[in-house]
Amino acid sequence: MRTRYFGGFLLILLCMGSLSFRVTGVTNSGDASALDVVRLLWASSVPTSWNSGTDPCDSQWDGVTCTNGRITSLILSSVGLQGSLSSQIGSLTALQTLDLSYNTDLTGRLPNSIGNLVSLKILMTIGCNFNGQIPSELGNLTNLSFLALNSNKFTGSIPATLGKLTNVEWLDVADNQLTGSLPVSNSTQSGLDKLVNANHFHFNLNNLSGTIPPALFSENMNLLHVLFDSNKFEGEIPSTLGLVTSLTVVRLDRNQITGSIPSNISNLVSLEELNLSNNKLNGAIPDLSALTGLGYIDFSNNSFNPSTVPSWLTSTQKLTTIVLDNCSIAGQISSTIFSLPLLETVRMKNNQLNGTVTISATNSNEVQWIDLRNNSITQAAVQGNATLWIAGNPVCNSDSSLSISKSCQNMVEVKSYQTVTAQCGAKNCSGGLKHNPKRCKCQQPYEGQMVFRAPSFSDLTDTQRFKGLENDLITKLSVDTIYLCCLYFDSTQYLIVPVQFFPADSKFFTRSEVTQIGFKLSSHSYHAPEEFGPFFFMATPYSIGSEESSKGLSSAVIAGIAAGAVVLALAVIVMGFYALRQKKRAEKAIEIHKPFASWGAGSMGNGNGPKLKGARWFSFAEIKEATNNFSESNVIGAGGYGKVYKAMLPEGEIVAIKRAQQGSLQGGAEFKNEIELLSRVHHKNLVGLIGFCTEQGEQMLVYEYIPNGNLRENLIGELTLDWARRLQIALGSAKGLNYLHELAHPPIIHRDIKSTNILLDENLNAKVADFGLSKLVADGGVNAGGKSHVSTQVKGTLGYLDPEYYMTQQLSEKSDVYSFGIVLLELITARLPIEGAKYIVRLVKEALESGGIACLQEELMDPVLTQDNLTGFGEFLALALSCVKELSAERPSMREAVKELESIVEMQGPYSSVKDSPESDPIVVKGTRKLYDEDDEEISMVLPRQGKDNHKNLFEYSGAYQLSGTIEPK
Ligand SMILES: *[C@@H]1O[C@H](CO)[C@@H](O)[C@H](O)[C@H]1NC(C)=O
Ligand SMILES: *[C@@H]1O[C@H](CO)[C@@H](O)[C@H](O)[C@H]1NC(C)=O
Repeated sequence: MRTRYFGGFLLILLCMGSLSFRVTGVTNSGDASALDVVRLLWASSVPTSWNSGTDPCDSQWDGVTCTNGRITSLILSSVGLQGSLSSQIGSLTALQTLDLSYNTDLTGRLPNSIGNLVSLKILMTIGCNFNGQIPSELGNLTNLSFLALNSNKFTGSIPATLGKLTNVEWLDVADNQLTGSLPVSNSTQSGLDKLVNANHFHFNLNNLSGTIPPALFSENMNLLHVLFDSNKFEGEIPSTLGLVTSLTVVRLDRNQITGSIPSNISNLVSLEELNLSNNKLNGAIPDLSALTGLGYIDFSNNSFNPSTVPSWLTSTQKLTTIVLDNCSIAGQISSTIFSLPLLETVRMKNNQLNGTVTISATNSNEVQWIDLRNNSITQAAVQGNATLWIAGNPVCNSDSSLSISKSCQNMVEVKSYQTVTAQCGAKNCSGGLKHNPKRCKCQQPYEGQMVFRAPSFSDLTDTQRFKGLENDLITKLSVDTIYLCCLYFDSTQYLIVPVQFFPADSKFFTRSEVTQIGFKLSSHSYHAPEEFGPFFFMATPYSIGSEESSKGLSSAVIAGIAAGAVVLALAVIVMGFYALRQKKRAEKAIEIHKPFASWGAGSMGNGNGPKLKGARWFSFAEIKEATNNFSESNVIGAGGYGKVYKAMLPEGEIVAIKRAQQGSLQGGAEFKNEIELLSRVHHKNLVGLIGFCTEQGEQMLVYEYIPNGNLRENLIGELTLDWARRLQIALGSAKGLNYLHELAHPPIIHRDIKSTNILLDENLNAKVADFGLSKLVADGGVNAGGKSHVSTQVKGTLGYLDPEYYMTQQLSEKSDVYSFGIVLLELITARLPIEGAKYIVRLVKEALESGGIACLQEELMDPVLTQDNLTGFGEFLALALSCVKELSAERPSMREAVKELESIVEMQGPYSSVKDSPESDPIVVKGTRKLYDEDDEEISMVLPRQGKDNHKNLFEYSGAYQLSGTIEPK
């Protein structure tokens, strides 16, 4: 009879534990379950092919690539993902490529656990909305060759640990809010100078400061691009820069760099672009005629010594662009400069040029733009197709010839390349679709911008150049057509090229086509033509219109949820009956031994006595006196086990005494167990045992008195536990548990973690209580495979019970982790684990499925929290979900949970205590909400009394509304 019940129960738990009904899949179960949590946090923003009822590898989820059941690549660019990245990403340890680029609603921190992905070669989060620090754990990814975190909102400094990424070729952290100086090696750490395989240092557009460290550069480096522009660097340009002869682009512009340009810069013979503008450089503009490949120079807005037009310019044959605005240059500009064969742009405005400027037809074949505004030029002559701009020169007042008057206008029309389109008549496309430029079809293009950070040219009208780019993109990205329009240089001199890619036949690209195009552009497996120089791509999320089945819950998911809910309800009912039967049976069966008789007064540590460390033995008389003869007015809690009394010892110490009532005494062995355990553990997040009493058939435990009751009462009480405080409570409880698991000797499994067993002290610090069910890891139960009596005792509280433990009866620390995960969900929702026959884990997952974190917050979050700034909410939720994973092996350890909570608390910032002086300002708490058990019956609870007297401000200890008692199949 009992066996049948039990078997049925196992089956139900099995169903209940699984998130959905999976077809047998090929995905490694650890990977599948980690991806499940990742997916849950992204809710319905994941690709529609990510159907929760299917196997990621087997059913070809978009963007997921697998090898032998392990997920090796996640390419999810431009998908429109929303939410945060779960720390469970760190469990996908076979991952080699992770591309989350262009998901502008992907926010939160990059989890530290990303440092576990040791196989990772490519990591890209370009153009997302990640914030917080760049995790120093990235330094563990020593196989990484491509790291692009650019265009997010990362703060803090560049972690020195990135110096361990010796295989990295591309390092791009540009366009964030990074601060601090560039880390270089010292005796304790390796720094960026160790990245000898790096070709790209893209640190531009941040708030980095300090001097550019001379140690950063050496002849061992193989850098091509050094982009440090638009930061707050100061000090001098290190002369070691001249050692890195591989360099092709150096941009140090838009900083506060001082001193003169080191002369050995002329050793950089491969240099194509040198931009030092907008600094505080002084001295002379150096002779760079040795740099024969130089195409683009900009020294504008510095404090150079006054000079004439540098004569070496005319001998640098590859120059396309010369920018020397506001450089104290005087004298006449020689017309030979305009005969440089590739010249496109000369800008020398705001100088003291004088005399005559002559641009003849013969030497102006390439010249397009000559901007000499605000000088002292008195005569000008232009022939051919050059555009001269000389407003603000005396010549504009004296010479009224037609060609000159055009040059003297204040505005000049700026033209740029545009793809020639087919003439499609007036027919407009509807629904946000656009004309394919070649075919007049209406389609949804994949749109974005290519941002060229240092092109070696400046002419934006050159058809050949841009047609070349277009054809190159079409061929290498396998798209049908491309539309380029409206190119421009932005204020930081990046060339912005808006681009639209069109699909060949259908109206829309498929999801995987989009991610592949995005990936090729962001990972630079697509190389733009050489003259375009370094670029990055910034896409707009691509929405696949009505042709794709509408987003939201698929019918399979809905069926799964519905079936799951029915099963859960059944499980709860069966469990309730079962528990009741078992409890009665157990109560009858308990034999009240008198193992303590031999302990005798004062004879501690002898014979069968408990092995005690510091716990006192109390006589019955002592306790009687301390509790005022067990006066009802001293009762501060009551439950199935008996009562808890507040008591004052003769020395004045306030204690809490837990007195088991006749008929519900623990087995003698259990009581002894509890005493031994409690006396051994000492940690600020664990309730300390002061002593015990075993006289006259009593079982009483004397604990330190914890004034503010348990977490459950506080969650529903009037005292507001704000988000920051809840984080502290979670962290404190986690530390207490971690102590039991890792630091106690022998390690201890609590086995009954729940919110009523987490007490709050006068400063609302968490203290884990009630080790009555605790189990020593060393005492043989864990690996006994259910054969020993001990291991067959499944104990715990319904709702918090680890389903795997229940099924296998194999106890491990991970069972506590499961229960702890439930407590974390309680901290978010303030709900009991099972309320109105609904299981909190399922409710949370359903809410996330249907509408992500926003939906969860709206439907389930404790309303008290709505006013709070919920820093790290996504991370907290991810941790909770990973703690309640079906398979214990996939749950984090308590140590890992502590680490994660610590970093969330760190994000949250320092916590200022609610109360300065708990004595003078006691916390007043009273119950306001009703609780319901699984049969929807109201549960009575002992409410604390209010008052100024701190001593009266008390709570019961535990168990008053434990739902179904202890389950003990025998
Ligand atoms: C790192 O790369 C090397 C060479 O490709 C490979 O042999 C090694 O297994 C990789 N390490 C990891 C942890 O994947
Ligand atoms: C010219 O350069 C100086 C630095 O030498 C700078 O302070 C000033 O703002 C610049 N003027 C213009 C118009 O940019």
